[in-house]
Amino acid sequence: MFSSLLAASLLSLALSASAFPEYRSLAGLSAAEVRAVARTFTSTPGAQPLPPAINDTSSKLVYDDAHPWEPLRPGDIRGPCPGLNTLASHGYLDRSGVATPGEIITAVQEGFNMGFDLAAFVTYAAFIVDGNHLTNLMSIGQKTPETGPDAPAPATIGGLNTHGAFEGDASTTRDDFALGSNFLFNETLFDQLSQAAIDFGSNGTLDINSAAVHRHNRILDSMARNPNFTFVIPRYLTAYAETTFPLAMFVSNQTSDSSMTLNLDDARSFFQNHKYPDNFFRRNGSYGNDEVGTLITEVFELFPDILPGNNEGAGNYVLDPNDPGFNGDGTCYAYYKQTNFTLSLYPDPTDELRTALQQNLATFYITLGDPTCEEVFPFGQ
Ligand code: HEM
Repeated sequence: MFSSLLAASLLSLALSASAFPEYRSLAGLSAAEVRAVARTFTSTPGAQPLPPAINDTSSKLVYDDAHPWEPLRPGDIRGPCPGLNTLASHGYLDRSGVATPGEIITAVQEGFNMGFDLAAFVTYAAFIVDGNHLTNLMSIGQKTPETGPDAPAPATIGGLNTHGAFEGDASTTRDDFALGSNFLFNETLFDQLSQAAIDFGSNGTLDINSAAVHRHNRILDSMARNPNFTFVIPRYLTAYAETTFPLAMFVSNQTSDSSMTLNLDDARSFFQNHKYPDNFFRRNGSYGNDEVGTLITEVFELFPDILPGNNEGAGNYVLDPNDPGFNGDGTCYAYYKQTNFTLSLYPDPTDELRTALQQNLATFYITLGDPTCEEVFPFGQ
């Protein structure tokens, strides 16, 4: 994902049907359980190859008649990502909030013009630790039976809300896990983002400067108050990436150089209500690895003092000398870390699960697009 960034300016610096036997009556099941049964029997089991990249990456109306915003139904799941939440609330993703990695990769391209390379890397970095390898389903929020039967512990299959797998600290509008809800919109944090836009932005709108100020403030706040603050790869990289996402993808008809700024009403619409502003056009040209690398560099260079590390008690931030951050090959490092984390969740998988893990890790490796990273095969080849 960040290989271009690192190479550039910052270098110097199957499901078993047994869980839902067919003879079991659906009477007495909750709506969510019924949907889980339906999904179970219709979803394609096992790991799946990457979907194709979309061809047309021009700007277009995405808040169209085919994608109305709808309020949540009982049991629908939303999580820490305002991008995925919005796609689910407009039907680009299944409105339940449970989706396959392929569906997510296609939806972020269609609905926001996120680049295929970035979309694939981010999705698989999350899926291998938070998704269900046998059913190929992942929750974009809390853990749910709708992703199908669980693998044995220590596998969690907890969805994107799971702290420390992919989700992490110092988020834009969500609290640290140790301090509050790590997935619900937090008005105080949104107000801080707004204040940064008012004080340092472009005529009260969010721009690179003000987004960088908020990014830095969020890190300083976590350092000061969260005894468990953890700011290492992958979170270190995703924290800066998520700072650029609203600028690049929440601005209607954004230009390919992402130079337009974000007004605060539109920001709230995404962050809080998971809703496209009326007449919303996706950006012009995709926002992929090259583009995110450029914007992250701009954000980081405004406050280049933050290096990877973690708190040993509130106010005591200790650097991690092994973590390259932006000063080495963070992409490979992220690949090895997520792969090792996956292995720790699945120390002894059964045959079918092992095959799915093998295939999904192979797909994750492909998403790196970086032949200098050495591929590893913890589940065999
Ligand atoms: C490609 C698949 C994606 C996945 C798997 C994903 C997942 C996540 C997760 C897990 C978080 C929480 C990070 C944390 O707080 O530690 C997050 C945050 C965020 N994501 Fe996504 N995301 C994806 C795509 C997108 C897209 C396309 C956008 C914008 C259009 C977006 C915008 C954001 C923003 C702005 C945040 C910060 C939320 C906040 O703290 O207020 N994401 N994402």
